[in-house]
Amino acid sequence: SAPIRIAPSILSADFSKLGEEVRAIDAAGADWIHCDVMDGHFVPNITFGPDVLKAIRPHTTKFFDVHLMIAPVDPYVEAFAKAGADLISFHVEAGPHPHRTLQAIKAQGKQAGIVLNPGTPAAMVEPLLDDLDLILLMTVNPGFGGQSFIHSVLPKIAQVRALIGERPISLEIDGGATVETAPLAAKAGADVIVAGSAVFKGGPSAYAGNIAAIRKAA
Ligand code: DX5
Ligand code: ZN
Repeated sequence: SAPIRIAPSILSADFSKLGEEVRAIDAAGADWIHCDVMDGHFVPNITFGPDVLKAIRPHTTKFFDVHLMIAPVDPYVEAFAKAGADLISFHVEAGPHPHRTLQAIKAQGKQAGIVLNPGTPAAMVEPLLDDLDLILLMTVNPGFGGQSFIHSVLPKIAQVRALIGERPISLEIDGGATVETAPLAAKAGADVIVAGSAVFKGGPSAYAGNIAAIRKAA
């Protein structure tokens, strides 16, 4: 199986110096940079849009994993692609036409992912499997960093891993990942771990140790 990738979420970074923070997690061993976009409508919080993504893009060459918690999605796909996303994921709960959204992301030449909230069943990904590069299973309800891992998602991770079969699809989890919970998710079949507060706690001098600890545990 593929090695575990660690994707620090910049939601937990110091927003007053995002460029510096992105360079710091790059140097600290982040595999991907996870960018949480929230619209105050699909989720009860607001973060940043494509202009901020574009501003931080020159600070690293690492893979930008852009998690859209917005509805509607389609009107913004092109802007996030042009701003420097490598992969764009969106919630199956966000709109009536997820397959159309996947096509719109692919049309921009980007990788595409679908996201499932904790209360959404694994079967929602089935019709989309042949068009996906990534499936993201939320292990908290989206909207905020620093929440507790929802253990009842673990069986769904295993179910989705089985549905993926031999397809080249990454299986990512997001929310409440720590040195205690990341190994549970990895054991169930996740191969990309998003971590916000567990990476950024302690400030820049702690990032490398925090990332290494999660990687080792997973
Ligand atoms: C939640 C976001 C997550 C969040 C993770 O809506 O999608 O990426 O920042 O933060 P932690 O790791 O602190 O739960
Ligand atoms: Zn996220």
